[in-house]
Amino acid sequence: MHVLIINGSPRVKKFSNTDKILDKFCEGLSEKGNSYLRYEISDRRQWETIRQAWDESNNILIALPLYVECIPGLLLEFLETVTPHKDDADISFILQSGFAEGCQLRCGEEYLKLMSKHLGCRYKGTLVKGDNFSIRFFEDEKRDRITTPYKRMGQIYGEEASFDSEECKAFTGPEVFPAYVRVLVGLMFKTVARKSFEKISKEWGCTKPLDYRPYGT
Ligand SMILES: Cc1cc2nc3c(=O)[nH]c(=O)nc-3n(C[C@H](O)[C@H](O)[C@H](O)COP(=O)(O)O)c2cc1C
Repeated sequence: MHVLIINGSPRVKKFSNTDKILDKFCEGLSEKGNSYLRYEISDRRQWETIRQAWDESNNILIALPLYVECIPGLLLEFLETVTPHKDDADISFILQSGFAEGCQLRCGEEYLKLMSKHLGCRYKGTLVKGDNFSIRFFEDEKRDRITTPYKRMGQIYGEEASFDSEECKAFTGPEVFPAYVRVLVGLMFKTVARKSFEKISKEWGCTKPLDYRPYGT
């Protein structure tokens, strides 16, 4: 199978978590004897080339991050410029996010199903997984620990051309955390994580408190 792979993140390749996920995914895909073309919509200079590849492809995979509970605007802007297929192409998605619970990606997943129809493509499933915030902050082994499981997903997709298998569905992890984990995560955000966000924001030149609400009542 030959696959057109599009990274739908607005973040430039160097800083994109989706890009690091795709590195591992593509290893698995290649191991199963598949070939691919890979592009990033963050680089507008590639858009015309991607559109041409889109027209010629019958296996399309879009990997995207969840941005504000939804699909990145830049990806939608790009997709509005492609010519819809005529039910002659398969489309699959890798939907990944920062927060870990599967439930918060489900609305995006439903949207992708609908969007596939608008794009004239046969929907072949979405690989759903959160807990990816920190990929870009880590390197080497620490990064690999998060991204390596995507290699296996690339192998499965390489064999089945879809994400419908039970193994792909289980890849999401917990749909909702148990109550005690939610309490712990809440505490962590109010203490350790908050301190670390404050430190980062100061380093980036922020002078207002993180909960500053100039337009709040
Ligand atoms: C503007 C913005 C909005 C985001 N919104 C969400 C969100 O609603 N839910 C979530 O779980 N993660 C959210 N994230 C986290 C990203 O989905 C996550 O860090 C992802 O791995 C980023 O991939 P990328 O680096 O390829 O863009 C958001 C990140 C940004 C920058």
